[in-house]
Amino acid sequence: METITLAPSVRIPLPGPPLRREHQPVLVRLGAVVSALSHALDLSTGQFPGHSVRSCILGMRIGEEIGLSEQTRSDLFYALLLKDCGYSGNTWAMDSKRFRAERGASLVRLMGLSDRTARTILHADEHWDDPRQAAGLRKTEIPVMSQIVLLAQTLEMCLTTAGEHAATDSIDQLSGRWFDPDLVRATTSLAARGSLWADLRNPQATEVALRLEPRRKMMTQDDGALDSICVAFAQIVDAKSPFTFNHSSGVANAAMAIGRTLDLPWERVLFLRHAALLHDLGKLGVPNAVLEKPGKLDDAEWETMRLHPSHTWRILKAIPGFDEMSEVAASHHEKLNGTGYFRGIPGALLSLEARILAVADVFDALSAKRPYRDGLPPELVLQIMRKDAPHALDETCLEALEQSGAESDQTFIDLQNLNRKLNSY
Ligand SMILES: [Fe+2]
Ligand SMILES: [Fe+2]
Repeated sequence: METITLAPSVRIPLPGPPLRREHQPVLVRLGAVVSALSHALDLSTGQFPGHSVRSCILGMRIGEEIGLSEQTRSDLFYALLLKDCGYSGNTWAMDSKRFRAERGASLVRLMGLSDRTARTILHADEHWDDPRQAAGLRKTEIPVMSQIVLLAQTLEMCLTTAGEHAATDSIDQLSGRWFDPDLVRATTSLAARGSLWADLRNPQATEVALRLEPRRKMMTQDDGALDSICVAFAQIVDAKSPFTFNHSSGVANAAMAIGRTLDLPWERVLFLRHAALLHDLGKLGVPNAVLEKPGKLDDAEWETMRLHPSHTWRILKAIPGFDEMSEVAASHHEKLNGTGYFRGIPGALLSLEARILAVADVFDALSAKRPYRDGLPPELVLQIMRKDAPHALDETCLEALEQSGAESDQTFIDLQNLNRKLNSY
């Protein structure tokens, strides 16, 4: 039986000393950001690492085989990577197929991606000849891109667990019920010619997927497109549990208040906002039973929790141009005396932005209302936090937070309203 071999985990090194750098606008590729963040969705759904990227490779090859236009394949590319973004993985919301499909489509619209990408995700659970699924569409009523998404993810899951032959057998068996028989024929023909499975075992599968994107789209750090993607992924993370509800936006608002009070330039405040919105991406890999456990965590549970910033690091580090972002976002539980996690980084190696994020994270965690307690008032929160400075939390950042007058604020703010918000600090 042939199965996917997963890359062995690597040790994550300590960062170098923080550098004071001149701001240079970083040009990032939209496809690279979305393909990296799709690894966070794999954590959330419990799929094997790289599931979304491998589904993307398979779906793009099928799309090319049936002659989809360049524009259609461009829309399909993002739908394949983001097909699971509506899955919140929580135990407290209604996670029906319909709910997931609608939530996924609205998140994709929030990211500023095309309406056709959103509609593809909305109908990706429809079966060819079973109107009981999702919106009850049948056969040619189902958008062909949605049919490809279902086919590609089914193939990927069978491939990973049982190998190539089992994967083609399974879609043959479901032909005419789940899948359009013509689409299955095109896929099995592609497989017989050896063109379907190539490079799927490549540890650099993300690069293979990126080569299949028909049109490269680039963004800068202060582009609204990047901001919208960060906001959408923050909402995906925060939906996981009532314990994290709107936490990422609360940390972003507190971090921006500190940065603004310290007179950081606009680009650095925006950088802080993005690092804060993405800082807990790795929590998508922590089971809700651990996140929501009312009592003390046992050793194994604590180890799982302790590693969540390392997942954030790995996901963000894979994006060209996000080196600094990965370090700052993944250092939010570090302490100046080196007793924090996940690397125990000493204060001398923690940048100002990392220190700001650590203060903002504690501030929001204590201020926010939790299912088991009300939020604490700002004076009490600051009183508690002062006991942790300067040995654990940075004193200057904590003073800036106090001076900013910021109170707990977990509202999601879009880029258009951001300037007005920042001027209030
Ligand atoms: Fe965290
Ligand atoms: Fe956090």
